[in-house]
Amino acid sequence: MSRSRSQSAAPPPCYAVVHPGLEPIAAEEIERDLGGEVKKTGPGFVVFRVPEIDERLLSLRTTEDVFLFAWGTDQLSHRAEDLDRIRRWTAREADWANLLRIHHTLRPKPKGKPTYRLVTQMEGKHGYLRRDARKALAQGLAGKVPESWRPAEENAAVEFWLTLHGATAVCGLRLSDRDMRHRTYKLEHRPASLRPTIAAAMVRLAEVRPRHVVLDPMCGAGTLLAERLAAAQRIRGGCAPVWGGDLDFSAVRAASVNLRRVGPALLARWDATRLPLGPGEVDRIVSNPPFGKQLSSPEAVGPLYNAMLREYDRVLRPGGLAVLIVSAAAALRSVARRVGWKAQRQLPIRVLGQSAVVTVWRKPGAQDSMNKEGERG
Ligand SMILES: C[S@@+](CC[C@H](N)C(=O)[O-])C[C@H]1O[C@@H](n2cnc3c(N)ncnc32)[C@H](O)[C@@H]1O
Repeated sequence: MSRSRSQSAAPPPCYAVVHPGLEPIAAEEIERDLGGEVKKTGPGFVVFRVPEIDERLLSLRTTEDVFLFAWGTDQLSHRAEDLDRIRRWTAREADWANLLRIHHTLRPKPKGKPTYRLVTQMEGKHGYLRRDARKALAQGLAGKVPESWRPAEENAAVEFWLTLHGATAVCGLRLSDRDMRHRTYKLEHRPASLRPTIAAAMVRLAEVRPRHVVLDPMCGAGTLLAERLAAAQRIRGGCAPVWGGDLDFSAVRAASVNLRRVGPALLARWDATRLPLGPGEVDRIVSNPPFGKQLSSPEAVGPLYNAMLREYDRVLRPGGLAVLIVSAAAALRSVARRVGWKAQRQLPIRVLGQSAVVTVWRKPGAQDSMNKEGERG
């Protein structure tokens, strides 16, 4: 990415911060659902243009946050001279008045004196501290923020962000708020709950159609099922009820609370290795089985995956897809090979500080599975 400036004639570029590893899925959502043009992806972000900057930007589901782009570079030197550049680029490369005007159209200024906040994130080794980068950002913004505005650490009306990741930096105005990453449906939380943006990415990878029966056999707080239902809210006629369950009754209760206002769900307490479902009843399985360290012993993961996949293979129809996020990808691969599933895609990501892989599988099926896709579409 060469350093670039937002222009005032066409809508300025935007960028999204995404969970590292999910950049291709977020880019695909931006292109397909918003008609956007992706200009650049880097570790944890996607820079793009959209024909119009409107509230549809805030309905993206695989992104953690969305911003108006002020400037960006992928040529940080990691040395103290970067601070001078941050100062200079912030002062000269962005049309802040235009960005603030566009920001106010999407997020109207509250009554009274607006508040603002500077946020600096830094990952990787740099020869300066995060607070030095923040100071450089503040110096570059001198004279750009109206004098009557007050700084605030909480609930600021306007947030100026600077994100440094290795040699990359992006700077802009935040358009989204915490609801983009946390979701309003999440009333009940469980310790091992999946991040909603990861769940949304998994649902996209599952290529779900409205009439598909979607199952999460280990649903926890129901994040994956909620994301399937939320994605279908944009479709006229909605979607078939989702099916889910968990060994732990308190998880089933949490899922039921979280899904109540999102869409129809059939939930039960069950053992995912002995599901009360008939053969081939399910079109899609999306699931987040326990990671090794969440089990009594990490070695328990192999036997669990073995029993679980045999059962998933029984209930999944031929040609159906399963999207599973696991920490022990090798163990899953060897069991999947045994049941004959075909690997479609693998996306390495980090979850709760651990390496994980989002894996997509297709159960081989006769030609009639294609026809069934058409019928249920
Ligand atoms: C990583 S958590 C799932 C989190 C969920 N995706 C969410 O967002 O809340 C794994 C879940 O699997 C459940 N579980 C473990 N073994 C199970 C089994 N044999 N049958 C059904 N559920 C099981 C656990 O109770 C736990 O809720």
